[in-house]
Amino acid sequence: MTTSFKFSFTIEILCLALCSLTLSCHAFTSMDYSTALEKSILFFEGQRSGKLPPDQRLTWRGDSGLSDGSSYHVDLTGGYYDAGDNVKFGLPMAFTTTLLAWSVIEFGDEMGSQIEHARAAIRWGSDYLLKAATATPGTLYVQVADPNMDHKCWERPEDMDTPRNVYKVSTQSPGSDVAAETAAALAAASIVFKNSDPSYSRKLLQTAMKVFDFADRYRGSYSDSLNSVVCPFYCSYSGYQDELLWGASWIHRASQNTSYLDYIKSNGHTMGAYDDNYSFSWDDKRPGTKVLLSKDFFEKKTLEFQPYKSHSDNYICSLIPGTSSFQAQYTPGGLLYKGSASNLQYVTSSALLLLTYAKYLNLNGGVATCGSSTITAEKLISQAKKQVDYILGDNPAKMSYMVGFGERFPQHVHHRGSSVPSIHAHPTRIPCNDGFHYLDSSSPNPNVLVGAIVGGPDSRDNFADDRNNYQQSEPATYINAPFVGAVAYFAAKPN
Ligand SMILES: *[C@@H]1O[C@H](CO)[C@@H](O)[C@H](O)[C@H]1NC(C)=O
Ligand SMILES: *[C@@H]1O[C@H](CO)[C@@H](O)[C@H](O)[C@H]1NC(C)=O
Repeated sequence: MTTSFKFSFTIEILCLALCSLTLSCHAFTSMDYSTALEKSILFFEGQRSGKLPPDQRLTWRGDSGLSDGSSYHVDLTGGYYDAGDNVKFGLPMAFTTTLLAWSVIEFGDEMGSQIEHARAAIRWGSDYLLKAATATPGTLYVQVADPNMDHKCWERPEDMDTPRNVYKVSTQSPGSDVAAETAAALAAASIVFKNSDPSYSRKLLQTAMKVFDFADRYRGSYSDSLNSVVCPFYCSYSGYQDELLWGASWIHRASQNTSYLDYIKSNGHTMGAYDDNYSFSWDDKRPGTKVLLSKDFFEKKTLEFQPYKSHSDNYICSLIPGTSSFQAQYTPGGLLYKGSASNLQYVTSSALLLLTYAKYLNLNGGVATCGSSTITAEKLISQAKKQVDYILGDNPAKMSYMVGFGERFPQHVHHRGSSVPSIHAHPTRIPCNDGFHYLDSSSPNPNVLVGAIVGGPDSRDNFADDRNNYQQSEPATYINAPFVGAVAYFAAKPN
Protein backbone atom coordinates (compact mmCIF):
# COMPACT_ATOMS: atom_id res chain seq x y z
CA MET A 1 0.00 0.00 0.00
CA THR A 2 1.55 3.33 -1.02
CA THR A 3 1.40 6.39 1.19
CA SER A 4 -0.85 8.29 -1.17
CA PHE A 5 -3.24 5.38 -1.36
CA LYS A 6 -3.27 5.14 2.43
CA PHE A 7 -3.90 8.87 2.58
CA SER A 8 -6.81 8.88 0.18
CA PHE A 9 -8.18 5.79 1.85
CA THR A 10 -8.16 7.59 5.21
CA ILE A 11 -9.86 10.62 3.64
CA GLU A 12 -12.52 8.38 2.20
CA ILE A 13 -13.23 6.74 5.55
CA LEU A 14 -13.38 10.18 7.09
CA CYS A 15 -15.84 11.36 4.47
CA LEU A 16 -18.02 8.33 4.93
CA ALA A 17 -18.03 8.95 8.69
CA LEU A 18 -18.89 12.62 8.15
CA CYS A 19 -21.59 11.70 5.66
CA SER A 20 -23.39 9.54 8.15
CA LEU A 21 -23.11 12.22 10.83
CA THR A 22 -24.30 15.19 8.83
CA LEU A 23 -26.96 15.71 6.21
CA SER A 24 -24.66 17.66 3.93
CA CYS A 25 -22.97 14.78 2.19
CA HIS A 26 -21.83 15.53 -1.33
CA ALA A 27 -21.07 12.62 -3.58
CA PHE A 28 -19.82 14.82 -6.40
CA THR A 29 -17.73 17.96 -6.55
CA SER A 30 -18.23 20.96 -8.79
CA MET A 31 -15.44 19.56 -10.95
CA ASP A 32 -17.29 16.25 -11.33
CA TYR A 33 -20.43 18.04 -12.48
CA SER A 34 -18.38 20.18 -14.88
CA THR A 35 -16.86 17.04 -16.36
CA ALA A 36 -20.32 15.51 -16.70
CA LEU A 37 -21.55 18.71 -18.37
CA GLU A 38 -18.72 18.64 -20.88
CA LYS A 39 -19.38 14.98 -21.68
CA SER A 40 -23.15 15.38 -21.87
CA ILE A 41 -22.65 17.90 -24.71
CA LEU A 42 -19.85 15.94 -26.39
CA PHE A 43 -22.28 13.04 -26.84
CA PHE A 44 -24.18 15.02 -29.50
CA GLU A 45 -21.12 14.86 -31.77
CA GLY A 46 -21.51 11.09 -31.85
CA GLN A 47 -25.08 11.49 -33.13
CA ARG A 48 -24.21 13.88 -35.94
CA SER A 49 -25.31 13.11 -39.46
CA GLY A 50 -23.83 14.86 -42.49
CA LYS A 51 -20.41 16.34 -43.15
CA LEU A 52 -18.44 16.59 -39.94
CA PRO A 53 -16.63 19.87 -39.28
CA PRO A 54 -12.85 20.13 -38.75
CA ASP A 55 -13.34 20.76 -35.01
CA GLN A 56 -15.23 17.47 -34.50
CA ARG A 57 -13.92 16.03 -31.20
CA LEU A 58 -15.44 12.53 -31.28
CA THR A 59 -12.99 11.50 -33.97
CA TRP A 60 -14.03 7.87 -34.42
CA ARG A 61 -17.05 9.15 -36.36
CA GLY A 62 -16.95 10.08 -40.06
CA ASP A 63 -19.21 11.77 -42.62
CA SER A 64 -22.53 10.08 -43.31
CA GLY A 65 -25.86 10.62 -45.04
CA LEU A 66 -24.25 13.02 -47.50
CA SER A 67 -26.96 12.56 -50.11
CA ASP A 68 -29.93 12.66 -47.74
CA GLY A 69 -32.78 14.34 -49.61
CA SER A 70 -31.07 14.30 -53.01
CA SER A 71 -33.47 11.85 -54.62
CA TYR A 72 -36.21 14.34 -53.75
CA HIS A 73 -34.08 17.29 -54.93
CA VAL A 74 -33.83 18.79 -51.47
CA ASP A 75 -30.86 19.12 -49.16
CA LEU A 76 -31.61 17.21 -45.99
CA THR A 77 -28.03 16.54 -44.92
CA GLY A 78 -27.08 17.15 -41.31
CA GLY A 79 -29.16 16.81 -38.18
CA TYR A 80 -29.02 14.04 -35.60
CA TYR A 81 -29.62 10.31 -35.46
CA ASP A 82 -32.05 9.90 -32.58
CA ALA A 83 -30.47 7.00 -30.72
CA GLY A 84 -28.65 3.78 -31.63
CA ASP A 85 -29.81 3.62 -35.24
CA ASN A 86 -29.30 5.73 -38.36
CA VAL A 87 -32.75 7.24 -38.82
CA LYS A 88 -33.37 10.97 -38.66
CA PHE A 89 -36.72 11.24 -36.90
CA GLY A 90 -38.10 14.79 -36.94
CA LEU A 91 -40.23 14.74 -33.79
CA PRO A 92 -37.55 13.67 -31.30
CA MET A 93 -34.91 15.73 -33.14
CA ALA A 94 -36.99 18.88 -32.76
CA PHE A 95 -37.78 18.09 -29.11
CA THR A 96 -34.08 17.49 -28.44
CA THR A 97 -33.26 20.88 -29.97
CA THR A 98 -35.97 22.59 -27.91
CA LEU A 99 -34.66 21.08 -24.66
CA LEU A 100 -31.02 21.81 -25.44
CA ALA A 101 -32.07 25.40 -26.10
CA TRP A 102 -34.13 25.51 -22.89
CA SER A 103 -31.09 24.19 -20.99
CA VAL A 104 -29.00 27.08 -22.32
CA ILE A 105 -31.75 29.69 -21.83
CA GLU A 106 -32.11 28.83 -18.14
CA PHE A 107 -28.64 27.60 -17.21
CA GLY A 108 -26.29 28.90 -19.91
CA ASP A 109 -24.78 31.34 -17.40
CA GLU A 110 -23.67 28.30 -15.39
CA MET A 111 -21.96 26.59 -18.34
CA GLY A 112 -18.65 28.49 -18.40
CA SER A 113 -16.60 27.63 -21.46
CA GLN A 114 -19.02 24.84 -22.38
CA ILE A 115 -21.55 27.38 -23.62
CA GLU A 116 -19.88 27.43 -27.04
CA HIS A 117 -20.18 23.67 -27.38
CA ALA A 118 -23.79 23.79 -26.19
CA ARG A 119 -24.60 26.42 -28.83
CA ALA A 120 -22.90 24.29 -31.49
CA ALA A 121 -25.03 21.30 -30.45
CA ILE A 122 -28.19 23.40 -30.77
CA ARG A 123 -27.14 24.81 -34.13
CA TRP A 124 -26.51 21.32 -35.51
CA GLY A 125 -30.19 20.66 -34.85
CA SER A 126 -31.61 24.08 -35.79
CA ASP A 127 -29.65 24.27 -39.08
CA TYR A 128 -31.24 20.99 -40.14
CA LEU A 129 -34.73 21.97 -38.97
CA LEU A 130 -34.46 25.25 -40.89
CA LYS A 131 -33.67 23.33 -44.08
CA ALA A 132 -36.47 20.84 -43.43
CA ALA A 133 -38.93 23.70 -42.91
CA THR A 134 -37.95 25.97 -45.79
CA ALA A 135 -36.93 23.64 -48.67
CA THR A 136 -40.42 23.38 -50.19
CA PRO A 137 -43.30 25.80 -49.49
CA GLY A 138 -46.26 24.22 -47.72
CA THR A 139 -44.14 21.25 -46.69
CA LEU A 140 -42.15 20.18 -43.67
CA TYR A 141 -39.71 17.29 -44.12
CA VAL A 142 -40.02 15.20 -40.98
CA GLN A 143 -37.95 12.08 -41.45
CA VAL A 144 -35.12 10.55 -43.44
CA ALA A 145 -34.96 6.74 -43.71
CA ASP A 146 -37.49 3.97 -43.34
CA PRO A 147 -36.94 2.70 -39.78
CA ASN A 148 -38.17 -0.79 -40.62
CA MET A 149 -35.46 -1.14 -43.26
CA ASP A 150 -32.82 0.58 -41.15
CA HIS A 151 -33.46 -1.75 -38.22
CA LYS A 152 -32.89 -4.81 -40.41
CA CYS A 153 -29.21 -3.90 -40.56
CA TRP A 154 -26.52 -3.25 -37.97
CA GLU A 155 -24.37 -0.78 -39.86
CA ARG A 156 -22.18 2.19 -39.09
CA PRO A 157 -23.77 5.43 -40.30
CA GLU A 158 -20.72 5.89 -42.53
CA ASP A 159 -21.53 2.59 -44.33
CA MET A 160 -25.28 2.63 -44.45
CA ASP A 161 -26.90 1.60 -47.70
CA THR A 162 -30.50 1.17 -46.59
CA PRO A 163 -33.13 3.34 -48.32
CA ARG A 164 -32.93 6.98 -47.32
CA ASN A 165 -36.58 7.61 -48.01
CA VAL A 166 -37.79 11.10 -47.24
CA TYR A 167 -41.09 11.71 -45.43
CA LYS A 168 -42.97 14.96 -45.19
CA VAL A 169 -46.11 16.54 -43.87
CA SER A 170 -48.03 19.00 -46.03
CA THR A 171 -51.31 20.86 -46.28
CA GLN A 172 -52.93 17.64 -47.54
CA SER A 173 -51.22 15.28 -45.07
CA PRO A 174 -50.86 17.40 -41.97
CA GLY A 175 -48.68 16.81 -38.93
CA SER A 176 -49.47 19.48 -36.35
CA ASP A 177 -47.53 17.60 -33.67
CA VAL A 178 -44.20 17.42 -35.49
CA ALA A 179 -44.67 20.85 -37.08
CA ALA A 180 -45.50 22.62 -33.81
CA GLU A 181 -42.55 20.91 -32.08
CA THR A 182 -40.33 22.13 -34.92
CA ALA A 183 -41.71 25.64 -34.37
CA ALA A 184 -40.92 25.30 -30.65
CA ALA A 185 -37.35 24.24 -31.43
CA LEU A 186 -36.75 27.11 -33.86
CA ALA A 187 -38.23 29.67 -31.46
CA ALA A 188 -36.26 28.38 -28.47
CA ALA A 189 -33.06 28.35 -30.54
CA SER A 190 -33.77 31.94 -31.65
CA ILE A 191 -33.54 32.99 -27.98
CA VAL A 192 -30.18 31.22 -27.63
CA PHE A 193 -28.69 33.07 -30.62
CA LYS A 194 -30.34 36.44 -29.98
CA ASN A 195 -27.09 38.15 -28.90
CA SER A 196 -24.40 35.95 -30.42
CA ASP A 197 -25.89 35.81 -33.94
CA PRO A 198 -28.84 38.20 -34.31
CA SER A 199 -29.50 37.61 -38.01
CA TYR A 200 -29.58 33.82 -37.54
CA SER A 201 -31.84 34.35 -34.55
CA ARG A 202 -34.30 36.43 -36.59
CA LYS A 203 -34.37 33.81 -39.33
CA LEU A 204 -35.10 31.10 -36.76
CA LEU A 205 -37.94 33.08 -35.25
CA GLN A 206 -39.51 34.03 -38.58
CA THR A 207 -39.39 30.40 -39.68
CA ALA A 208 -40.84 29.29 -36.35
CA MET A 209 -43.85 31.57 -36.90
CA LYS A 210 -44.41 30.22 -40.42
CA VAL A 211 -44.14 26.61 -39.32
CA PHE A 212 -46.45 27.24 -36.40
CA ASP A 213 -49.03 28.83 -38.69
CA PHE A 214 -48.83 25.75 -40.92
CA ALA A 215 -49.19 23.43 -37.90
CA ASP A 216 -52.22 25.30 -36.58
CA ARG A 217 -53.97 25.90 -39.90
CA TYR A 218 -53.71 22.33 -41.24
CA ARG A 219 -54.57 20.23 -38.27
CA GLY A 220 -53.89 16.56 -37.89
CA SER A 221 -51.46 14.11 -36.39
CA TYR A 222 -48.50 12.84 -38.34
CA SER A 223 -49.26 9.45 -36.83
CA ASP A 224 -52.25 9.33 -39.19
CA SER A 225 -50.56 10.58 -42.34
CA LEU A 226 -47.27 8.68 -41.84
CA ASN A 227 -48.40 5.83 -39.64
CA SER A 228 -46.28 2.98 -41.00
CA VAL A 229 -42.97 4.84 -40.67
CA VAL A 230 -43.46 6.82 -37.46
CA CYS A 231 -45.41 4.26 -35.43
CA PRO A 232 -44.56 2.60 -33.13
CA PHE A 233 -41.22 4.42 -33.11
CA TYR A 234 -42.31 8.00 -32.44
CA CYS A 235 -46.05 7.73 -32.72
CA SER A 236 -47.75 10.84 -31.37
CA TYR A 237 -49.80 9.10 -28.67
CA SER A 238 -50.71 12.33 -26.91
CA GLY A 239 -52.08 13.96 -30.06
CA TYR A 240 -51.13 17.42 -31.30
CA GLN A 241 -52.90 19.86 -28.96
CA ASP A 242 -50.00 19.68 -26.51
CA GLU A 243 -47.47 20.59 -29.22
CA LEU A 244 -49.60 23.46 -30.53
CA LEU A 245 -49.71 25.09 -27.11
CA TRP A 246 -46.04 24.35 -26.47
CA GLY A 247 -45.06 25.84 -29.85
CA ALA A 248 -47.16 28.96 -29.25
CA SER A 249 -45.63 29.31 -25.77
CA TRP A 250 -42.10 29.22 -27.12
CA ILE A 251 -42.88 31.76 -29.85
CA HIS A 252 -44.52 33.94 -27.21
CA ARG A 253 -41.39 33.66 -25.07
CA ALA A 254 -39.12 34.43 -28.03
CA SER A 255 -41.14 37.23 -29.65
CA GLN A 256 -43.40 38.70 -26.96
CA ASN A 257 -45.83 39.12 -29.88
CA THR A 258 -49.34 39.45 -28.44
CA SER A 259 -50.92 37.20 -31.12
CA TYR A 260 -49.34 34.21 -29.38
CA LEU A 261 -50.47 35.44 -25.97
CA ASP A 262 -53.99 35.58 -27.36
CA TYR A 263 -53.58 32.11 -28.84
CA ILE A 264 -52.48 30.71 -25.47
CA LYS A 265 -55.35 32.43 -23.69
CA SER A 266 -57.94 31.02 -26.04
CA ASN A 267 -56.45 27.51 -26.32
CA GLY A 268 -55.03 26.96 -22.85
CA HIS A 269 -58.13 25.06 -21.78
CA THR A 270 -57.06 22.18 -24.05
CA MET A 271 -54.52 21.44 -21.34
CA GLY A 272 -56.21 20.77 -18.01
CA ALA A 273 -54.59 20.72 -14.62
CA TYR A 274 -54.66 16.99 -14.03
CA ASP A 275 -55.11 15.50 -17.47
CA ASP A 276 -51.54 14.41 -17.97
CA ASN A 277 -49.64 11.35 -16.95
CA TYR A 278 -47.00 13.43 -15.24
CA SER A 279 -44.39 12.60 -17.79
CA PHE A 280 -42.60 15.14 -19.93
CA SER A 281 -41.26 13.54 -23.09
CA TRP A 282 -40.86 13.81 -26.86
CA ASP A 283 -44.54 12.82 -26.97
CA ASP A 284 -46.20 14.77 -24.15
CA LYS A 285 -45.35 18.45 -23.77
CA ARG A 286 -47.94 19.42 -21.16
CA PRO A 287 -45.78 19.48 -18.02
CA GLY A 288 -43.14 21.53 -19.86
CA THR A 289 -45.71 24.00 -21.18
CA LYS A 290 -47.13 24.52 -17.70
CA VAL A 291 -43.74 25.36 -16.25
CA LEU A 292 -42.76 27.50 -19.23
CA LEU A 293 -45.94 29.59 -19.00
CA SER A 294 -45.75 29.94 -15.21
CA LYS A 295 -42.77 32.25 -15.69
CA ASP A 296 -45.03 35.02 -17.00
CA PHE A 297 -47.04 34.80 -13.83
CA PHE A 298 -44.02 34.95 -11.53
CA GLU A 299 -42.19 37.59 -13.51
CA LYS A 300 -44.89 39.83 -14.91
CA LYS A 301 -47.84 38.89 -12.74
CA THR A 302 -49.82 38.10 -15.91
CA LEU A 303 -53.01 37.09 -14.14
CA GLU A 304 -54.29 34.98 -17.01
CA PHE A 305 -51.27 32.78 -16.43
CA GLN A 306 -52.04 32.17 -12.77
CA PRO A 307 -53.57 28.76 -13.64
CA TYR A 308 -50.21 27.64 -15.01
CA LYS A 309 -48.70 28.21 -11.58
CA SER A 310 -51.33 25.87 -10.10
CA HIS A 311 -50.87 23.38 -12.93
CA SER A 312 -47.12 23.45 -12.41
CA ASP A 313 -47.58 23.01 -8.67
CA ASN A 314 -49.69 19.92 -9.35
CA TYR A 315 -47.03 18.49 -11.60
CA ILE A 316 -44.16 19.32 -9.24
CA CYS A 317 -46.03 18.02 -6.16
CA SER A 318 -46.68 14.75 -7.98
CA LEU A 319 -42.91 14.19 -7.98
CA ILE A 320 -42.23 15.01 -4.33
CA PRO A 321 -42.70 12.09 -1.93
CA GLY A 322 -44.63 12.99 1.21
CA THR A 323 -46.93 15.59 -0.36
CA SER A 324 -50.66 14.93 -0.57
CA SER A 325 -50.61 14.90 -4.39
CA PHE A 326 -47.58 12.62 -4.68
CA GLN A 327 -48.10 10.25 -7.61
CA ALA A 328 -44.76 9.23 -8.99
CA GLN A 329 -43.03 5.90 -8.56
CA TYR A 330 -39.44 5.67 -7.32
CA THR A 331 -37.11 2.69 -7.27
CA PRO A 332 -35.84 1.50 -3.85
CA GLY A 333 -32.61 3.35 -4.69
CA GLY A 334 -34.53 6.59 -5.25
CA LEU A 335 -34.75 6.88 -9.03
CA LEU A 336 -37.91 8.27 -10.64
CA TYR A 337 -39.43 5.38 -12.53
CA LYS A 338 -41.97 5.78 -15.35
CA GLY A 339 -41.47 2.74 -17.51
CA SER A 340 -39.14 0.01 -18.61
CA ALA A 341 -38.01 1.53 -21.91
CA SER A 342 -35.59 4.46 -21.82
CA ASN A 343 -36.70 5.40 -18.32
CA LEU A 344 -33.92 7.93 -17.82
CA GLN A 345 -35.54 10.23 -20.40
CA TYR A 346 -38.25 10.97 -17.82
CA VAL A 347 -35.67 11.42 -15.10
CA THR A 348 -33.59 13.97 -16.99
CA SER A 349 -36.62 15.87 -18.33
CA SER A 350 -38.21 16.14 -14.88
CA ALA A 351 -34.87 17.20 -13.34
CA LEU A 352 -34.75 20.11 -15.81
CA LEU A 353 -38.34 21.06 -14.94
CA LEU A 354 -37.67 20.87 -11.18
CA LEU A 355 -34.66 23.17 -11.47
CA THR A 356 -36.37 25.54 -13.89
CA TYR A 357 -39.42 25.78 -11.66
CA ALA A 358 -37.20 26.36 -8.63
CA LYS A 359 -35.59 29.22 -10.54
CA TYR A 360 -38.98 30.73 -11.43
CA LEU A 361 -40.21 30.37 -7.84
CA ASN A 362 -37.16 32.27 -6.70
CA LEU A 363 -38.05 35.16 -9.02
CA ASN A 364 -40.45 36.36 -6.34
CA GLY A 365 -39.89 34.17 -3.31
CA GLY A 366 -42.76 31.85 -4.20
CA VAL A 367 -43.38 28.30 -3.07
CA ALA A 368 -45.21 25.40 -4.68
CA THR A 369 -48.51 24.58 -3.00
CA CYS A 370 -49.24 20.89 -2.56
CA GLY A 371 -52.65 20.58 -0.93
CA SER A 372 -52.24 21.94 2.56
CA SER A 373 -48.44 21.98 2.51
CA THR A 374 -45.90 24.10 0.69
CA ILE A 375 -42.69 23.08 -1.01
CA THR A 376 -39.72 25.41 -1.31
CA ALA A 377 -37.40 25.88 -4.26
CA GLU A 378 -34.61 24.27 -2.19
CA LYS A 379 -36.67 21.10 -1.92
CA LEU A 380 -37.10 20.95 -5.69
CA ILE A 381 -33.37 21.46 -6.16
CA SER A 382 -32.46 18.67 -3.74
CA GLN A 383 -34.94 16.35 -5.47
CA ALA A 384 -33.35 17.12 -8.85
CA LYS A 385 -29.89 16.62 -7.38
CA LYS A 386 -30.76 13.12 -6.16
CA GLN A 387 -31.75 12.19 -9.70
CA VAL A 388 -28.66 13.70 -11.31
CA ASP A 389 -26.42 12.04 -8.71
CA TYR A 390 -28.12 8.70 -9.21
CA ILE A 391 -27.42 8.88 -12.95
CA LEU A 392 -23.78 9.75 -12.32
CA GLY A 393 -23.19 6.77 -10.03
CA ASP A 394 -24.64 7.51 -6.59
CA ASN A 395 -26.95 4.48 -6.68
CA PRO A 396 -27.18 0.94 -5.28
CA ALA A 397 -25.36 -0.57 -8.28
CA LYS A 398 -22.56 2.03 -7.91
CA MET A 399 -22.77 2.41 -11.63
CA SER A 400 -22.67 5.56 -13.73
CA TYR A 401 -25.29 5.56 -16.46
CA MET A 402 -23.30 8.14 -18.39
CA VAL A 403 -20.84 6.47 -20.75
CA GLY A 404 -17.24 7.50 -20.08
CA PHE A 405 -18.03 9.05 -16.69
CA GLY A 406 -16.80 7.51 -13.44
CA GLU A 407 -15.17 4.13 -12.93
CA ARG A 408 -18.05 1.86 -13.93
CA PHE A 409 -20.31 2.69 -16.83
CA PRO A 410 -22.15 0.74 -19.56
CA GLN A 411 -19.78 -1.01 -21.96
CA HIS A 412 -22.29 -2.62 -24.32
CA VAL A 413 -24.23 0.39 -25.46
CA HIS A 414 -26.95 -0.36 -28.02
CA HIS A 415 -25.53 1.92 -30.69
CA ARG A 416 -24.45 0.91 -34.17
CA GLY A 417 -21.64 3.42 -34.61
CA SER A 418 -20.20 2.84 -31.15
CA SER A 419 -20.31 -0.97 -31.31
CA VAL A 420 -18.86 -1.53 -34.80
CA PRO A 421 -15.15 -0.66 -35.29
CA SER A 422 -14.55 2.89 -36.46
CA ILE A 423 -14.10 3.48 -40.18
CA HIS A 424 -10.65 4.86 -39.31
CA ALA A 425 -9.64 1.56 -37.64
CA HIS A 426 -11.46 -0.65 -40.13
CA PRO A 427 -11.94 1.21 -43.44
CA THR A 428 -13.34 -1.81 -45.28
CA ARG A 429 -17.10 -1.61 -45.46
CA ILE A 430 -19.06 -3.77 -43.02
CA PRO A 431 -22.36 -4.52 -44.75
CA CYS A 432 -25.82 -4.88 -43.27
CA ASN A 433 -25.78 -8.44 -41.94
CA ASP A 434 -22.10 -8.59 -41.04
CA GLY A 435 -22.69 -5.95 -38.38
CA PHE A 436 -24.88 -8.23 -36.26
CA HIS A 437 -21.79 -10.07 -35.14
CA TYR A 438 -20.86 -6.85 -33.26
CA LEU A 439 -24.35 -6.47 -31.84
CA ASP A 440 -24.14 -9.96 -30.35
CA SER A 441 -20.51 -9.80 -29.26
CA SER A 442 -19.71 -9.84 -25.56
CA SER A 443 -16.75 -7.48 -26.04
CA PRO A 444 -17.09 -3.87 -24.92
CA ASN A 445 -17.94 -1.31 -27.59
CA PRO A 446 -14.73 -0.36 -29.40
CA ASN A 447 -15.72 3.33 -29.70
CA VAL A 448 -16.64 5.07 -26.48
CA LEU A 449 -19.76 7.19 -27.02
CA VAL A 450 -18.58 9.65 -24.39
CA GLY A 451 -21.35 11.35 -22.45
CA ALA A 452 -24.24 9.19 -23.65
CA ILE A 453 -26.83 8.54 -20.96
CA VAL A 454 -28.45 5.16 -21.58
CA GLY A 455 -32.03 4.01 -20.91
CA GLY A 456 -31.04 3.02 -17.39
CA PRO A 457 -31.99 0.53 -14.68
CA ASP A 458 -35.32 -1.18 -14.01
CA SER A 459 -37.79 -0.58 -11.20
CA ARG A 460 -35.55 -2.53 -8.78
CA ASP A 461 -32.35 -0.60 -9.66
CA ASN A 462 -31.03 -3.50 -11.73
CA PHE A 463 -29.23 -2.91 -14.99
CA ALA A 464 -28.14 -5.50 -17.54
CA ASP A 465 -25.23 -4.18 -19.57
CA ASP A 466 -26.29 -6.04 -22.68
CA ARG A 467 -26.38 -4.58 -26.20
CA ASN A 468 -29.54 -6.49 -27.06
CA ASN A 469 -31.31 -5.00 -24.05
CA TYR A 470 -32.12 -1.78 -25.89
CA GLN A 471 -34.68 -0.66 -23.28
CA GLN A 472 -31.80 -0.20 -20.84
CA SER A 473 -28.65 0.14 -22.92
CA GLU A 474 -29.68 2.48 -25.74
CA PRO A 475 -28.82 6.18 -25.53
CA ALA A 476 -31.01 8.88 -27.07
CA THR A 477 -30.56 12.57 -27.81
CA TYR A 478 -33.64 13.46 -25.76
CA ILE A 479 -32.24 11.71 -22.67
CA ASN A 480 -29.15 13.93 -22.78
CA ALA A 481 -30.68 17.25 -23.86
CA PRO A 482 -32.41 18.18 -20.58
CA PHE A 483 -29.52 16.75 -18.57
CA VAL A 484 -27.24 19.42 -20.07
CA GLY A 485 -29.17 22.14 -18.25
CA ALA A 486 -29.62 20.17 -15.04
CA VAL A 487 -25.97 19.24 -14.65
CA ALA A 488 -24.88 22.80 -15.55
CA TYR A 489 -26.85 24.02 -12.54
CA PHE A 490 -24.92 21.70 -10.21
CA ALA A 491 -21.57 22.44 -11.84
CA ALA A 492 -22.10 26.03 -10.68
CA LYS A 493 -23.87 25.22 -7.39
CA PRO A 494 -22.73 21.76 -6.26
CA ASN A 495 -24.28 22.15 -2.79
C1 LIG B 1 -52.04 7.97 -19.67
O1 LIG B 1 -51.56 6.67 -19.44
C2 LIG B 1 -52.52 5.67 -19.70
C3 LIG B 1 -51.93 4.34 -19.26
O2 LIG B 1 -50.56 4.27 -19.48
C4 LIG B 1 -52.89 5.70 -21.18
O3 LIG B 1 -53.85 4.71 -21.47
C5 LIG B 1 -53.47 7.08 -21.50
O4 LIG B 1 -53.71 7.17 -22.88
C6 LIG B 1 -52.48 8.17 -21.10
N1 LIG B 1 -53.15 9.44 -21.24
C7 LIG B 1 -52.60 10.44 -21.94
C8 LIG B 1 -53.46 11.66 -22.00
O5 LIG B 1 -51.52 10.40 -22.47
C1 LIG C 1 -47.16 38.90 -34.58
O1 LIG C 1 -47.46 37.61 -35.07
C2 LIG C 1 -48.45 37.58 -36.08
C3 LIG C 1 -48.77 36.14 -36.37
O2 LIG C 1 -47.60 35.45 -36.78
C4 LIG C 1 -47.94 38.36 -37.29
O3 LIG C 1 -48.95 38.38 -38.29
C5 LIG C 1 -47.59 39.78 -36.88
O4 LIG C 1 -47.00 40.46 -37.96
C6 LIG C 1 -46.63 39.78 -35.70
N1 LIG C 1 -46.43 41.13 -35.22
C7 LIG C 1 -45.22 41.66 -35.10
C8 LIG C 1 -45.21 43.03 -34.51
O5 LIG C 1 -44.19 41.09 -35.41
